[in-house]
Amino acid sequence: MPSHQASIASQVNAETIEQHQYDVIIVGAGGAGLRAAIAASEAGQQKVAVVTKSLLGKAHTVMAEGGVAASLGNVDADDSWDTHFYDTMKSGHFINNYRVAEVFAKEVPDRVLELETWGAVFDRTPAGKIMQRPFGAHSFRRLAHIGDRTGKELIRTLQYKVIHQAVDVYQEVTSTALLVDAQGRIAGIFGYYREDGRFVLFRAKAVVLATGGWGKAYKVTSNSWESTGDGAAMGFRIGAELMDMEMVQFHPTGMVWPPGVRGLLVTEGVRGEGGLLYNSKHERFMLRYDPVLQELSSRDVVARSIYKENQAGRGTPHGGAWLDISYKPAAYVKAKLPGMYEQFRSLADVDITREPFEVAPTVHYTMGGVRVDPETCATNVEGLFAAGEVACGLHGANRLGGNSLGDILVFGRRAGAGARAYAAETAWKEIDPSAVEREAERVLAPLAREDGEQPYHLMADLQEVMTTYGGMVRSQEGLETGLARLQELEDRAGRMAVKGTRAYNPGWHTVFDVESMLLLGKSIMLGALARKESRGAHWRIDFPEELPEMGSLNYVQRLRGEQVVVEPTPVPKMPAELARLFEDDRAPGVRRRAERSGEGREGR
Ligand code: FUM
Repeated sequence: MPSHQASIASQVNAETIEQHQYDVIIVGAGGAGLRAAIAASEAGQQKVAVVTKSLLGKAHTVMAEGGVAASLGNVDADDSWDTHFYDTMKSGHFINNYRVAEVFAKEVPDRVLELETWGAVFDRTPAGKIMQRPFGAHSFRRLAHIGDRTGKELIRTLQYKVIHQAVDVYQEVTSTALLVDAQGRIAGIFGYYREDGRFVLFRAKAVVLATGGWGKAYKVTSNSWESTGDGAAMGFRIGAELMDMEMVQFHPTGMVWPPGVRGLLVTEGVRGEGGLLYNSKHERFMLRYDPVLQELSSRDVVARSIYKENQAGRGTPHGGAWLDISYKPAAYVKAKLPGMYEQFRSLADVDITREPFEVAPTVHYTMGGVRVDPETCATNVEGLFAAGEVACGLHGANRLGGNSLGDILVFGRRAGAGARAYAAETAWKEIDPSAVEREAERVLAPLAREDGEQPYHLMADLQEVMTTYGGMVRSQEGLETGLARLQELEDRAGRMAVKGTRAYNPGWHTVFDVESMLLLGKSIMLGALARKESRGAHWRIDFPEELPEMGSLNYVQRLRGEQVVVEPTPVPKMPAELARLFEDDRAPGVRRRAERSGEGREGR
């Protein structure tokens, strides 16, 4: 045995690993994780814990700023669950799982009202109801909001509820592996405290993944440091299936300047409140790309339009577009978009009430993820559940703004309840001690290497490769080059070395981020190669059209040894009563309103 390995083995043998046991463990403390914890602990009979590498209250959920989409009908009384369902399926280009979308559209109003009873302070209509604003490609004003800080208020509310329920929270703990028994069923989690590197072993009957997406695999992103795909990668490694991995959402409006804030989200709420997009010739270019929905077209369309304007030489100085809301009264802008006003004032020295500001697309959301059952959020691995951005099915090829906050409420609750029900009926599974030892040795290996690859360099190279070859514009040649480059990075990643000790060592944490994102990056590229068409967020310049035959396929991925296998799988077929909704090119609520008022066919 090489000497460094012998020294790791003796360290592992000498260390008494801290151990805990819970019926249900939720990994991740964003909205999906907290909502799952509330549901899992609801009956009060099971021991529940949340394990997060971040801090309670500090989650990427806060980046869904503009609102939560729910057909409450407070502002537009014609809104309805079937209209929300219609919009969601249409914007997802019909590769969404219809049942996930149906459950979502029906349940999300109750989840929002429930939040209100738990203390969320929504903006109000004059009649005192929850205020709703327009957002891209929603047929009605549908986004319940709290200024432009909706995600933040949602987290605050859920956090308050969680701490009053019997849920233990382990903060700043990185989970590195899901542990399974000899039959491949969930048995626990291995991880370490980020503060001092101490190992911790959780025994669990059920685990809910609520770890969010992997936008950090890209150079320019609205995502915070947590979004490195740990949960999806851990699940994939133990046999969970991934789906629609090629679908990566670019939010059309991220900050562009100064460079230090590039990618930071500029909420769609700006356009929802009337913000207009201009090119360098002061043309409202969205009138050309989508004359009906204009600035409130779907995100894939707006992001691509900004890109095309730049390709045509009509971009702004830093490669974006101008967004302007300064024609509205300053008091209105400050009241509706206080966060944006402050963000631009303090970070870019721009007063958005007086002048236009530069924006450009930024990676915002990963629509693919762990494949789950719509009713319980169970994965194909017994005892493993997933909810929120880490899971997939709701959004298809393009997510509607505001549907992510609804997603985490509806499916966070369902995943927590599913895990609770499973844990109530299942026995404890055996953890193989040698698997724990192997994982501990694997985790320590980069610290024991004298020389090797710097994880930060690998992270930067990975982001460069993903942005160049797996970004908004894709081609066979580019994707193949990207895959070859990822293979080189994978080889280098096997030699990652970290200086220092286990205490406060961000380089060491980065090792695991790189490993997760390399795996998921490969999976994005492979999914993108397989889907030989353009659909929603997936834009292949060598296959620019959406192909009807591909509209009935999802690409499901499985890990076989080291190899990622991609398989086309039929999209579940909608029952007749739902399929009928799409016989009309108007959303159901829009059609009903037109019929009632005897209007013609115009309008969405
Ligand atoms: O633009 C936004 O406020 C983002 C919302 C979302 O992604 O749902």
